[in-house]
Amino acid sequence: MKVLSGMRPTGKLHLGHYFGVIKNWVELQEKHETFYMIADWHALTTAYKNTEQIKENIEQVMIDWIALGLDPNKSTLFIQSEVKEELELFLIFSMITPKSWLEWNPTYKDMKLNLLRISDLELSFKGGLRDLVKEFLAKVPYKIVDFEAFEEVILDTLSDSFIRAVFEGLLEPEILNRLNVSKRDFYDTDTYGFLGYPVLQAVDILIYKAEAVPVGEDQLPHIELSREIARRFNQLYGEVFPEPKALLTETPRLLGTDGRKMSKSYNNAIFFADGKEEVRQKVMKFFTDPQKLRKGDPGRPHICPVFFYHRLFTNSEKTQQIEVDCMSGTLGCVDCKKIMFESLESFLEPIREKRLEVEKSIKDIKEVFMEGSQRARQIARQTLEEVKEKMKL
Ligand code: TRP
Repeated sequence: MKVLSGMRPTGKLHLGHYFGVIKNWVELQEKHETFYMIADWHALTTAYKNTEQIKENIEQVMIDWIALGLDPNKSTLFIQSEVKEELELFLIFSMITPKSWLEWNPTYKDMKLNLLRISDLELSFKGGLRDLVKEFLAKVPYKIVDFEAFEEVILDTLSDSFIRAVFEGLLEPEILNRLNVSKRDFYDTDTYGFLGYPVLQAVDILIYKAEAVPVGEDQLPHIELSREIARRFNQLYGEVFPEPKALLTETPRLLGTDGRKMSKSYNNAIFFADGKEEVRQKVMKFFTDPQKLRKGDPGRPHICPVFFYHRLFTNSEKTQQIEVDCMSGTLGCVDCKKIMFESLESFLEPIREKRLEVEKSIKDIKEVFMEGSQRARQIARQTLEEVKEKMKL
């Protein structure tokens, strides 16, 4: 099975990246033909204003990948922008992809709405967004059976252009200040390139004729779109592309130090580049069961982020004991965190050492990625030939 995946170079990797995707990638390279790319053009779709970071970020990702066990002897590790053939296919796919497929892509809508969260807007509107919808519904000349459900549906499916209209027309500058957003922020991703993000991703996958794509759940709409583009091309011009399927990781979403999903932007992440002391401090600041205020209070391990980490990093016998002692109250959070820190460190330490080693030979590592890119390019070139032949170009 041919496997391919990619990652945008957004900086140093953290535990969430590892459990979310990379662990899966490392396992897959044992049994399959695997391709892993650093998707630097994709980074450009959102970071086009801060391009000075991208080169450095690519290097950091290279170092982390190797330190985490991706092996250039088993996988083709490469850089998207080194394969210029992708651009030609990107142009061709752009011609055959209906605009509506992109505009309705949930990930696209999500990302745009994330910039301006509806809940923020609701609070700050004159009257509130909900009132606006209510007012509208009151004027509809039909009897609405379940008013609230209908209202929810409307709020949920508010289209991008509606949000934009509201944003343009109804928000006072003073409110914008309070929300800390500007019109410019809103239009950051209102670009041709960003709309085409999933088309480029379809190119990434299809130009290497990948059959399986190991990704996180959030990427499913993109994989689906790749399948649709493959199908459309094959129908229009003849069979070239296999339809790729997504491979999801079983690992639960990794929690950060505050119990929310681990993410750089939440400031709750533990990075592989963090030193031992840094990790210790982060562990000691971990959120725990808010009802367990002091040693002696019974705790609820199943809702505690620290216990979540014990389950991942501490051996199962000890973990069971910790569960019992937390619930009875004999184990306090500080001691519990100290044990967790030791367990976590026994996982992180070898990676940190490998990382330092790899960092020293960054020149060789870059070379490895260049060789990988050459290999990827060969395949891309062949596919492109085939594409043009089928299209009679
Ligand atoms: N969009 C993916 C993400 O944000 C990264 C990516 C780019 C990718 N190209 C890809 C993933 C190709 C899988 C296959 O995580």
